Amino acid sequence: MTYKQATYDEPLIFELGKPGRRGHLPPKTDVPPREITIPSNMKRKELPQLPEMHEGEVVRHYLHLSQMNYCVDTGIYPLGSCTMKYNPKINEALARNEKMCYIHPYQPEETVQGILELIYNLQKILSELAGLPYCTLQPAAGAAGEYLGLNLIRAYHHDRGDYDRIDIITPDSSHGTNPASTVMNGFNIIEIESNKDGQVDLEALKAVVSEKTAGFMITNPNTLGIFESQIEEIAKIIHEAGGLLYYDGANFNAIVGMIRPGEMGFDVLHFNLHKTFSTPHGGGGPGAGAVCCSERLSSYLPVPVVEFDAENNRHFLNYDIPKTVGKTHGYYGNIAIALRGYAYICALGAEGLIETSKQAVLNANYVMRKLEEIDGLVLKFNRELPRKHECVLDATPLKHEIGVGAMDIAKMLISRGYHAPTVLFPLIVHEALMIEPTENENKESLDRYIEVFKEEIAKAREDPQYAHDAPYNTAVGRVDDAWATRNLILSWKMIKELEKKGQWPPKWPEDH
Ligand SMILES: Cc1ncc(COP(=O)(O)O)c(C=O)c1O
Repeated sequence: MTYKQATYDEPLIFELGKPGRRGHLPPKTDVPPREITIPSNMKRKELPQLPEMHEGEVVRHYLHLSQMNYCVDTGIYPLGSCTMKYNPKINEALARNEKMCYIHPYQPEETVQGILELIYNLQKILSELAGLPYCTLQPAAGAAGEYLGLNLIRAYHHDRGDYDRIDIITPDSSHGTNPASTVMNGFNIIEIESNKDGQVDLEALKAVVSEKTAGFMITNPNTLGIFESQIEEIAKIIHEAGGLLYYDGANFNAIVGMIRPGEMGFDVLHFNLHKTFSTPHGGGGPGAGAVCCSERLSSYLPVPVVEFDAENNRHFLNYDIPKTVGKTHGYYGNIAIALRGYAYICALGAEGLIETSKQAVLNANYVMRKLEEIDGLVLKFNRELPRKHECVLDATPLKHEIGVGAMDIAKMLISRGYHAPTVLFPLIVHEALMIEPTENENKESLDRYIEVFKEEIAKAREDPQYAHDAPYNTAVGRVDDAWATRNLILSWKMIKELEKKGQWPPKWPEDH
């Protein structure tokens, strides 16, 4: 493997400025200044250290930075599990509307009826899609929804005096956040193996359920894109053992309007509104992990619950939930995300939502069948089973043959100006390439992607070193991800500190 130092030559904005340079010189004002008294302890001791630049330089700098980035507006972004969909600009415009931006969560309820109505309606729609009648929009991300859902499960068991239920069972195909939320919540995680079809092994499940089982956590379709067809049987096993079923709805875009988790036997679920229903997802941006649940978990929902008083035709915030697990997020949650989701759902309507799911599934299966034709890539687990919204190919044969693995393929695609798939996840596929084209791409776009895939693997077969040295023509070369994670350098100031100590640029180990 050839790691390269980052060839990041874009100067920082602080390095571009020169003292005395100005953007604009506003004319002198003839309005007398207003006396404002700032307490001395709140006054700056020194002027802010801002770079002095002219406007053109600033615009060029930021435009260039944005051009160094790849985004869903630039091209296909088939990042499996992370679901980067195109987000209609009208939703962005709505979220930025001043009527939305300038409302304050401390405003009296009478003055925010519009947004309360929107929250209430969205909760109802999500409940309908989930097949679970209660909903909160508070959690700020999928993982936060998982954490809340697990809290509800715990509250339910504790309320019944069932304090020994501490086990959450999850398949080995589960998303990393599932075991993480479980452990953070104080539960004990029990992982069970998938069977040869990439689904939950029922015998393995039966072997671990006990009077300690608090719940079972799964995403369906799972992270292999395979629909867990035995889900009703699984629900029966868990319910008979006294546990509850948690549905990780991050993959909901595969099933919107076609099947409802409540009817599969689930008790609680989170949506990733920021994946399924508009909003750019990624880069740690804001999200919304709305949680829906059944009647038996509803009395533990976080406060405030947005309700409708039909007699007085007004929406209100209900804080009077005696058994609530408490607060999950300040105020009403990440409301701008909810607004985008609501706009997306209303624009598509029931039929449109179903159509998007069908298209997402069709696209994933099309890509899968084309890519598995490439010598060196295989579809692990039962290849007869259709996949849903995403598929996972395994590059292990290619790796054994010529030493080129999933990471090399990802970097070669980046060289060609395409976003890479998710790699090396799920963990049960060794050289995983996890592809989720989404419903946004048309056949021509998918064909181009498939073609580039084929071309790059053909080049790697001629010269494996070409693959190891990729990516080419990018601002940053092949970096050592593990080193970077263990040595977090997150800001310009940290670089400057390291420079002073003579520790920048970093010296990487010779031999990786
Ligand atoms: C299957 C699955 N579950 C949970 C999550 C966690 O969602 P979030 O990133 O919003 O916390 C993701 C994230 O992409 C996911 O793909």
